[in-house]
Amino acid sequence: MRKKIVAGNWKMNNDLAQTEELLSSIKLQWVKEPEATVIVAPAFTNLYHTFESLRKTPIEVAAQNMHQSDNGAFTGEISAKMLKSVGVRSVILGHSERRALFQETNEVLAEKVNSALENELKVIFCVGEELEERKKGNHFEVVKNHLEGGLFHVSPEAWGHIVIAYEPVWAIGTGETASPEQAQEMHAFIRKTVAGEFGQEIADEVSILYGGSVKPSNAREIFAKKDVDGGLIGGASLKAEDFMAIVHSF
Ligand code: PGA
Repeated sequence: MRKKIVAGNWKMNNDLAQTEELLSSIKLQWVKEPEATVIVAPAFTNLYHTFESLRKTPIEVAAQNMHQSDNGAFTGEISAKMLKSVGVRSVILGHSERRALFQETNEVLAEKVNSALENELKVIFCVGEELEERKKGNHFEVVKNHLEGGLFHVSPEAWGHIVIAYEPVWAIGTGETASPEQAQEMHAFIRKTVAGEFGQEIADEVSILYGGSVKPSNAREIFAKKDVDGGLIGGASLKAEDFMAIVHSF
């Protein structure tokens, strides 16, 4: 059966002290084992501290980005090998903020996916359309292009290490959420597209997360949909209480 996952993407928030505070609150709220695998993605500077702090818990640590090379003259960049060495288990790739603000293309993302997999990091691969694209009715095409351009070059064996996150750009940080029906419709499309390329068995096993203004008040309804296997949570993951409420929303 495919895994349920709730991942918190803390983005460029929280210095070390604030990270420590958030981690303490999450651990305090950890009163019962959740049904979902829980992942948190702090900023690079807080990764090792987060790993150390969560050592005795089942919570996994993810990075929000990485460079596609293992090492070399790439000032300011971080490699998969480096992430691995500080306890990181997975990496978010292709977030719409990376695509839009840092010009990450399908081609670059495909290389990042390769490097992550070669270094045994799990990939949380984000796809999603902008508002204009949805208005024009191009949302399926856009998502298909993200999948085909950045992810579908992998081998069938790699799929055990891949999670897909559908994040409509118009719902990220806007307070506006895709309706549970809109999420289900796109998740079913993504699964069908994966099945078309890699077969039904692989498609049935891949976890597909929804992201975009998930809150304690709407998580249950969204996660109840057949093809929604959890969430990638931005804003609400910065409050331990809200994040844990979402974690327990299955
Ligand atoms: P949000 O962000 O929950 O704040 O909308 C989601 C994301 O960008 O992963």
